Amino acid sequence: MDLLGRVALVTGASRGIGRAIAIRLARLGTAVAVNYSSNIDAANEVVNTIESNGGKALLALGDVSDPKQVNSIIESVMEKWGTLDILVNNAGITRDGLLIRMKEEDWDRVVDISLKGVFNCTKAVSRIMMKKRWGRIINISSIAGVAGNIGQTNYAAAKAGVIGFSKSVAKELASRNILVNVIAPGFIDTDMTDALPEEVRKSLLSNIPLGRYGDPEDVASLAAFLASEYSSYITGQVINIDGGMVM
Ligand SMILES: NC(=O)c1ccc[n+]([C@@H]2O[C@H](COP(=O)([O-])OP(=O)(O)OC[C@H]3O[C@@H](n4cnc5c(N)ncnc54)[C@H](OP(=O)(O)O)[C@@H]3O)[C@@H](O)[C@H]2O)c1
Repeated sequence: MDLLGRVALVTGASRGIGRAIAIRLARLGTAVAVNYSSNIDAANEVVNTIESNGGKALLALGDVSDPKQVNSIIESVMEKWGTLDILVNNAGITRDGLLIRMKEEDWDRVVDISLKGVFNCTKAVSRIMMKKRWGRIINISSIAGVAGNIGQTNYAAAKAGVIGFSKSVAKELASRNILVNVIAPGFIDTDMTDALPEEVRKSLLSNIPLGRYGDPEDVASLAAFLASEYSSYITGQVINIDGGMVM
């Protein structure tokens, strides 16, 4: 698989799934803007890893929920590399709790980052890709957005929103050769899932037919495929990557 000469922005690339996607795309020849919102040490580590392997990277601080910050990220990418071919909307957070106890601010923050952030970034790159008549937009949803999950009404709503949004954008941009697809991970071993109590982790594991948690590298492989020419006839799709959890 060869992505030589492409330019990508990966949001939330300092840790977990975003980190793995950024490093994988860079290894395949893509120049990668590594977005993060607060953890500069982790983001720097990703940039250094890419550069020490001979790749090209750019540190891109910015909160995806804020359109002004998103626009300044895109400007810095355009200034450095003059184009943008691949957008991976990966940044997302959880603020779990049962509906009856959920605070409005926990609803708002999750929806602002995990759904509005996808809108902000996609809108900002779409004009560039439309002019090029080439683009790949890969949105990270969740099986919670497909099947629902107790304690995650905010997160599941945001992630289901990402699916409807992506299908609509896929239809709007198909004539310009811009492909828009969704990855819906199950349980992937990252800081996000580390925060879950051990008994919840164990019970989730018992529902995974493949008998193991996912690794960020599993998701990176799918993202690389969707960013490549090998996926050129796929758009508007939701691909679950969950060890068979949701069939
Ligand atoms: N892990 C799973 O099992 C799983 C399952 C399904 C879906 N997902 C989805 O996959 C994506 C990545 O999850 P993960 O497990 O890798 O998460 P993670 O380890 O918690 O990492 C989250 C990343 O998002 C960044 N981020 C948070 N808020 C941001 C904001 N406002 N603007 C820009 N970046 C922001 C963080 O940056 P800082 O380092 O600066 O905080 C970090 O790089 C998320 O969308 C998540 O919902 C994960």
